[in-house]
Amino acid sequence: MRTTTSIFFVCFLFSLTIAAQTRQIIDLKENWKFAKGSYNDAYQKNFNDTKWETVSVPHDWAIYGPFDKEIDKQTVAILQNGEKTPTEKTGRTGALPYIGEGWYRHTFKLTDVAQNEKVLLTFDGAMSEPQVYLNGKKVGSWNYGYNYFYFDITEYLEDTNVLAVHLTNRDKSSRWYPGAGLYRKVQLIVKNKESINHWGTYITTPLVSKNIAKVNVKTEVTGSNLELKTTILNAEGNEVASNTTTTNFNNQFEQILAVNNPNLWSPEMPYLYKAKSEVYKNGTLLDAVTTIFGIRDIKYEAGKGFSLNGEIRKFKGVCLHHDLGPIGSALNKSALRRQLQILKDMGADAVRSAHNMPSLEQLELCDEMGIMFLAESFDEWAKPKVDNGYHLFFEEDVEKDLINLIHATRNHPSIVMWSSGNEVPDQWGAEGVKRAKRLQDIFHREDPTRPVTVGMDQVGNTMKSGFGALLDIPGLNYRVHLYEEAQEKFPQGFILGSETASTVSSRGIYKFPVEKASMKQYDDYQCSSYDLEYCSWSNLPDDDFVLQDDKPWVIGEFVWTGFDYLGEPTPYDDKWPSRSSYFGINDLAGLPKDRFYLYRSRWNTEDETLHILPHWNWEGREGETTPVFVYTSYDSAELFVNGKSMGIQKKNDSTKQNRYRLMWMDVKYEPGTVKVVAFDKEGNTAAEKEIKTAGKPYKIVLTLENKTVKANGDDLAFVRVSVVDKNGIPCPTATNQLKFKVKGNGSFRAACNGDATSLEVFHNPTMKLFSGQLVVLVQSSKTAGDIELSVKGSGLKSGKVTIQSVE
Ligand code: GAL
Repeated sequence: MRTTTSIFFVCFLFSLTIAAQTRQIIDLKENWKFAKGSYNDAYQKNFNDTKWETVSVPHDWAIYGPFDKEIDKQTVAILQNGEKTPTEKTGRTGALPYIGEGWYRHTFKLTDVAQNEKVLLTFDGAMSEPQVYLNGKKVGSWNYGYNYFYFDITEYLEDTNVLAVHLTNRDKSSRWYPGAGLYRKVQLIVKNKESINHWGTYITTPLVSKNIAKVNVKTEVTGSNLELKTTILNAEGNEVASNTTTTNFNNQFEQILAVNNPNLWSPEMPYLYKAKSEVYKNGTLLDAVTTIFGIRDIKYEAGKGFSLNGEIRKFKGVCLHHDLGPIGSALNKSALRRQLQILKDMGADAVRSAHNMPSLEQLELCDEMGIMFLAESFDEWAKPKVDNGYHLFFEEDVEKDLINLIHATRNHPSIVMWSSGNEVPDQWGAEGVKRAKRLQDIFHREDPTRPVTVGMDQVGNTMKSGFGALLDIPGLNYRVHLYEEAQEKFPQGFILGSETASTVSSRGIYKFPVEKASMKQYDDYQCSSYDLEYCSWSNLPDDDFVLQDDKPWVIGEFVWTGFDYLGEPTPYDDKWPSRSSYFGINDLAGLPKDRFYLYRSRWNTEDETLHILPHWNWEGREGETTPVFVYTSYDSAELFVNGKSMGIQKKNDSTKQNRYRLMWMDVKYEPGTVKVVAFDKEGNTAAEKEIKTAGKPYKIVLTLENKTVKANGDDLAFVRVSVVDKNGIPCPTATNQLKFKVKGNGSFRAACNGDATSLEVFHNPTMKLFSGQLVVLVQSSKTAGDIELSVKGSGLKSGKVTIQSVE
């Protein structure tokens, strides 16, 4: 029996692989020692780390701040934004202390690893340039912070082992907040030397029909005279197909299994199968791995576009950076799940991992919840965007980085497309064309089942150079004015809006007069939520909607971005204290901005949407023009202010905005009630909504997004906090400073109010409301029971809520 201390056994998914008795997966999660700094001898086994901080992994060393304007200050002209002269960019990477060196050390016992066993050490990502040591010896290194990698550490093992990981984050290495540290999971896999190789299972479904699916299973093994048994189980756990083989092609088995009447995977019905792979030698089971997969058919065809399981559809997608707002880059599955739930409610069916490799947990969730995935790899190839970006490693690392991406993730049914790059400056010049081909060829070699795109911003140039023509899927970032020409010139017969909109807004903030504007700035460094402001290179949501609706050859869009993220505070890149983005459909706290309802009104075809903006607390604007917009799934509605009709508006083609929004441009503000009555196609009243002018903040109200959490020490409850007046009307402009206290079987993790200019750190149990709201994150402990969150604020009736933490 091997024994372990300070390690945590897991029996849940690793990648797509479930631990079986024949192999053991050990999560190196708790009791890591961490220190920022260089510590030249911290790799030594006997180094004294007792004074270091004790942390658990995933961990982001930089998210605790403080925000500092000087951190990674970049005096640059952002060429891809069309800037000609350098200016001082302060919050470009979030103004959080991610730069520099850091060390993680972890001691674990692993006794009785048998002679016939080996041990792999796996990292799902490490930010960045990890150098890995075990017992004072260098085991290996990996440059790219977003990639998964592993080492065979068998030869380095002793009874008590000290693992030391050195990380380096260079300045000017990113265009957004990359996070810092061991921000994704680290595991040990103990298995037989003769076994299935890591990421060695590759499942495809070359034929999918209503009656039968052909499931091709390729399994790479190490060992001789092995027999492989593959069993396919349906979602209920019943066997639906099985095959045993001893025919081994240079360490690879290949099996074809038939699944009759297959349940197909789709966003609407994300049905998953399992393939159980068992390796035997002379009748003895040596290894067993379970791989989750889906049966689905994807096609991209000229003249038809994209189809899933034979049905043509357009991607209703969003781009996401990897940070999770107030918890930074430290991976948390419940935070990822919440993001996807919010997106599903909006009606989104796809996500693009901008601009790097997604976490395995995010892909698992997309498989389960039904979200198609565009898995991206790089923001840079050989030509730089930032001084110390991926171009430093491109030539040496690109192939192995792509191989790991593909091998680690290719069984996920959610992935329907790869992207080899985003707006790479290599779009210029003949070398870049060759690079595009080289990378696409690697994808094709490693996974012939999915097409490859690049998000292009130099569309005019890529039309001429051949760069765009060689891609499987021409992806256009913005450039709505070039869609028609690109469709004519590119040979593929369809266009993807690989990145769209980049409209900017701040939740609950409205500016007057209400007008379209590019790169508009205000003294408070906020953007207007009338959703009419965009960047010099980008556009409004409605511009994309028109193309999506009118051009059959446009295969969908990925909006920049689903959620606000840390860094890139355009249009305030050079204005301190702006430190996070304004692009999100939802803010950094995950609270919906008005734009959420605009997308929902067309993407969510199941549920009704009826949303009024702005709020109705405009003291001082009495009698002034205060336009009212309604985002709704209905075609027409009548607006009333204090019972007086402002007339009926109907969606129409007079302008792009009129086609998708109902707008009453001449409403004069008077305090009271704004009510909208929406009509169905027959003109009957279908739904009503009203908002009211609030009085003074009186009472704190807490709303639980999820009523229960799992008592696993990781799960998060998201609690929305707002204030209401004496009559219970939400106060939309409240900025009260609040204090949080958590008692019972959980702890306070973080708070976030979505204000891109706030310098309050997320982990302190106090924060100001922004536009009347914020979100508190409460983390479960490992003990089930009640967790109580109470929130206080001076002069306000406090709020209290109980979260149930369950086994
Ligand atoms: C795109 C870029 C994104 C982000 C966005 C902001 O050009 O690909 O990473 O910078 O602009 O609008």
